[in-house]
Amino acid sequence: MGIFGLALLAAAAIARAAPNCPVVPRQASGTAAWDTAYASARAAVARLSQQDKINIVTGIGWERGPCVGNTAPVNSIGYPQLCLQDGPLGIRFATGTTAFTPGVQAASTWDVDLIRQRGEYLGAEARAVGVHVLLGPVAGALGKIPHGGRNWEGFGSDPYLAGICMAETIEAIQSQGVQACAKHYIVNEQEWMRETMSSNVDDRTMHEIYLWPFADAAHSNVASFMCSYNKINGTWACESDSVQNKLLKQELGFRGYIMSDWNAQHTTVGSANSGMDMTMPGTDFSGGNVLWGPQLNNAVNSGQVSRARLDDMATRILAAWYLVGQDKGYPQVNLRLNVQGNHKENVRAVARDGIVLLRNEGNILPLGRPSRIAVVGSGAVIGRHAQNGCQDKGCNDGALGMGWGSGSVNYPYFVAPYDAIRERASRDGTQVSLHSSDNTNGVQNVVQGADVAIVFITADSGEGYITVEGHPGDRNHLDPWHNGNQLVQAVAAANKNTIVVVHSTGPIILETILNTPGVRAVVWAGLPSQENGNAIVDILYGSTSPSGKLVYTIAKRPEDYGVSIVRGDDNFREGVFVDYRWFDQNNIEPRFEFGFGLSYTNFSYSGLSITSNARAGPATGPTIPGGPADLWETVATVTAQITNTGGVAGAEVAQLYLTLPPTAPPAGPRQLRGFTKLKLQPGQTGTATFKLRKRDLSYWDVGRQQWVVPSGRFTISVGASSRDIRLTGSIDV
Ligand code: NOJ
Repeated sequence: MGIFGLALLAAAAIARAAPNCPVVPRQASGTAAWDTAYASARAAVARLSQQDKINIVTGIGWERGPCVGNTAPVNSIGYPQLCLQDGPLGIRFATGTTAFTPGVQAASTWDVDLIRQRGEYLGAEARAVGVHVLLGPVAGALGKIPHGGRNWEGFGSDPYLAGICMAETIEAIQSQGVQACAKHYIVNEQEWMRETMSSNVDDRTMHEIYLWPFADAAHSNVASFMCSYNKINGTWACESDSVQNKLLKQELGFRGYIMSDWNAQHTTVGSANSGMDMTMPGTDFSGGNVLWGPQLNNAVNSGQVSRARLDDMATRILAAWYLVGQDKGYPQVNLRLNVQGNHKENVRAVARDGIVLLRNEGNILPLGRPSRIAVVGSGAVIGRHAQNGCQDKGCNDGALGMGWGSGSVNYPYFVAPYDAIRERASRDGTQVSLHSSDNTNGVQNVVQGADVAIVFITADSGEGYITVEGHPGDRNHLDPWHNGNQLVQAVAAANKNTIVVVHSTGPIILETILNTPGVRAVVWAGLPSQENGNAIVDILYGSTSPSGKLVYTIAKRPEDYGVSIVRGDDNFREGVFVDYRWFDQNNIEPRFEFGFGLSYTNFSYSGLSITSNARAGPATGPTIPGGPADLWETVATVTAQITNTGGVAGAEVAQLYLTLPPTAPPAGPRQLRGFTKLKLQPGQTGTATFKLRKRDLSYWDVGRQQWVVPSGRFTISVGASSRDIRLTGSIDV
């Protein structure tokens, strides 16, 4: 057992994104919507007894209800037994729901339309099976440590990209009448000792890197947050006045509620007074150690927790419930319903468009009509992982679609690479031979003489309550599992047209593979969930040109990241220099940089145009969800022309990086501050539009405790990756 209509009101309703539109989260002003929800919640709370309120804020106990988290109903106000269920990529423990792609794959598409559709479908399924609170999306871990076990649940290692993905996903889930939950709040970057270690992080790094995507979540009117297991600067997250009351509720103006991660609460009074609003699951995992319930009742009666604080907790929880319209006609919990509809189309599209092509020597891809293909590796065929054969996906013994832990779900079906390749190949009369193990014995006989040999290798990770092949959640190393390097070497020794396909939860070191003669293509296929094989066939055969871009850096050596799992407290010495910021700042050449990805066509960039009315100074607007209102205003617009100069249709993710003037504290040479994905026919030109908000130009001024736009020259770099800059310009402020 593991440890572990509404439409979000007109104000935050979702305008369907027009294709090629600039990536800016909708202005979810939210204040009016929350005001209305609060009015209903206050009226309801006025009718409640103290015991009713205690029931609303206290889980009924581990494994005592149909969902991973449950609270007691309050019939007098029509409030149901609330069902809180994992997780970020689907409905955990359900049997008729879709296994959506993990967050990291969605981010790798850089396609806000697909990300939003994924969120809508997630929300629709949660609602249909009666889940009130879906426990996702994830912005912590952000992924500062490449070995981090749960990085794959989130949206890559850049706060701007993660923030956009959080906003799109939350608004989409909540448009279906389901409460989303932004987790794990905050600086929960590794699994090792996650319940005892302290993340000691300075104020500026906290704001500019780790809080950033959570600000997007608040701005999108997320219903709930989940405080994390770790300590922050010595205090447990769920007991921290500084991160709960001050950062989230005061500074970010968050109006929903904070629930504990499962058993992340440590005290009765401290958690209540530091801003936690709901305890989950209400007991420990043995059914004992109740910290709220009767204990909270006593604390309120003795005045240690004020009645106003208890009212505030209940009001926040009820307001979130009203906000998404769950007071009217919400379905009963039934995790057995088949509610998949056509949602697999989104899974396939995200799985495919999140694939990143890293090498393609001599255009070996896309495949033409080979007479024989050799397929190699356990990653090509169904194993227990694909058959839901091990608890919470805690095994890596065949084709891989997601990592392990509470963020995993059952697959309704699984298309393995070998099966999909065989089916596609049969159309051309291509013969397909298989070596289905990772053992090099006999593999050369299978690959010799084939037109191409396609080798599938994997690396897996997950949540720390399960250890898989010696990896305790976090990965012990950044090599492929099952001696993947040796397998590739053995294959390439016998076949000079070797294609390596990588399914992985995060970066692996590719040097051995890239230095092996005969390895002509490397396809970074990520985590494609149930549509694994179909997605890879779409790319291998070129029915779609690859268009994914890396959402983390692939280094030449593990040491180059400058961070690894910390055996004790983590002092976050790298500061704001996370992922590509570290490599750029320290002049370390990565193997494949953040934002990198090849296509079957080529794109040219031209015609940079910049308009700006940005002014130096702090954001001083009234606080709305997400912080000062003016932080979210557009202050500059950048456009560029992107032309498909190659011979096939394709899509390009144009990226905008900003360099702050030297009057701001050092933040690395470039920070991502915009992206647009353009789908272009051969010869076609499209306009990439980037809207820069005041926050995009700001740094966190520790002395003033404000976001400040510095004065001086900002450099604008637009390009195809964080290091492939095609156009530059500037803004003087
Ligand atoms: C612990 C995990 O950290 C969290 O993500 C999850 O939602 C809860 N367990 C409930 O399963």
